[in-house]
Amino acid sequence: MQHDTGREGFSTRAIRAASRTPRLDQESTAVPIYQTATFRTADAVELADVLGDRRPGYAYSRIANPTAAALASAIAEMEGAEEGFAFGTGMGAIFAALASQLAAGDELVASNALYGSTRSLVEGHLRRYGVAARYVDATDHAAVEAALSPATRVLYVETISNPTIVVADLARLAAIAHRHGVTMIVDNTFASPFLCRPIELGADLVVESATKWIGGHSDVLAGVVCGDAARMASVRALQVDTGGIVAPFSAFLVLRGLETLAVRMERHSATALELASFLERQVDVVRRVYYPGLASHPQAGLARHQLRAGGGMLAFDLGSREAGTVFLDALGLGERTASLGSVHTMAVHPPSTTHRQLDAEALARAGIAPGLVRVSVGLEDAEDVLGAAERALVAVRAAR
Ligand SMILES: Cc1ncc(COP(=O)(O)O)c(C=O)c1O
Repeated sequence: MQHDTGREGFSTRAIRAASRTPRLDQESTAVPIYQTATFRTADAVELADVLGDRRPGYAYSRIANPTAAALASAIAEMEGAEEGFAFGTGMGAIFAALASQLAAGDELVASNALYGSTRSLVEGHLRRYGVAARYVDATDHAAVEAALSPATRVLYVETISNPTIVVADLARLAAIAHRHGVTMIVDNTFASPFLCRPIELGADLVVESATKWIGGHSDVLAGVVCGDAARMASVRALQVDTGGIVAPFSAFLVLRGLETLAVRMERHSATALELASFLERQVDVVRRVYYPGLASHPQAGLARHQLRAGGGMLAFDLGSREAGTVFLDALGLGERTASLGSVHTMAVHPPSTTHRQLDAEALARAGIAPGLVRVSVGLEDAEDVLGAAERALVAVRAAR
């Protein structure tokens, strides 16, 4: 047997050799994936100081990781916010935003047009911790103001609501919230920071599911919260203690998505406008089309000045659940999936999927018709997307 006399053993040397991180005096073009749980410190005092936030640096990736930090600060910059933190999912971000601003006895006023999981986070969890919620029509500003009580701490809305495509007037709502000393949190997922920058319109915190348009390729889950330094300190504290930070590889993928967000959103918006206009002409089967870029949209004027373009999300009412199902099954192009914001066109029947948590009454209150179909328009050629929709409508007509 061969012994390396006077030297450390093979395993010890292999571990040291394999974890020697390269030191560069150049920057890489892409942000490196810091796939590590821990970071070395020079001595025990440095470790204690980094962990205690007395000096900048990294110690443990649940607390801070350079790739996650690069993503958070890139999105904060694009949102026009002082700070950001990146999470493992959009729901992780939404939970941190809400839970960091609310305590037992507080009230939350939210739009009745909300993503289903956000609704069940509030009803199934925050309520158990003593937070009461009221839901209002966010386009009825008098009703929003009337719903705010001295116990209200948060007003929560989506820039473009899931799935009804209602556009909230963020500047007006922020003014109402601030008159009452209430924090306004905006879920900007359907719009993305390319279409709308809620912080600049007065929102205090903005949340994004970066799983959607920012990531853009349906291959990663991530979320971000951005806002002012004081509120973000509470968000960060909650993130550290609940372990919500984004994984380094996920952060890398979202950073790559962010680089092409603008060109993708322009193309998604152009195709979505063509599809929405086509659907609006199919008056025999399509009852209504909801798309911010259509003149018929109830907030068309607001959408023109609040959104840079109409975006990739649209919804339409086929009149019945059965017609919705026939349409989805006949749509040759496009994925039948509950997600959105991808290169792939994705169509879904919200009442039975994304908003399954709502009973018939809550669906009606949220304006979600039984025959509603939501489409997230991808980057396929516009003629192919329209052709697929046209063929699916032929099937809907035949099934009547
Ligand atoms: C408007 C909106 N917000 C938040 C989320 C949650 O995002 P994630 O799935 O990344 O947790 C979704 C998911 O569909 C959404 O549609």
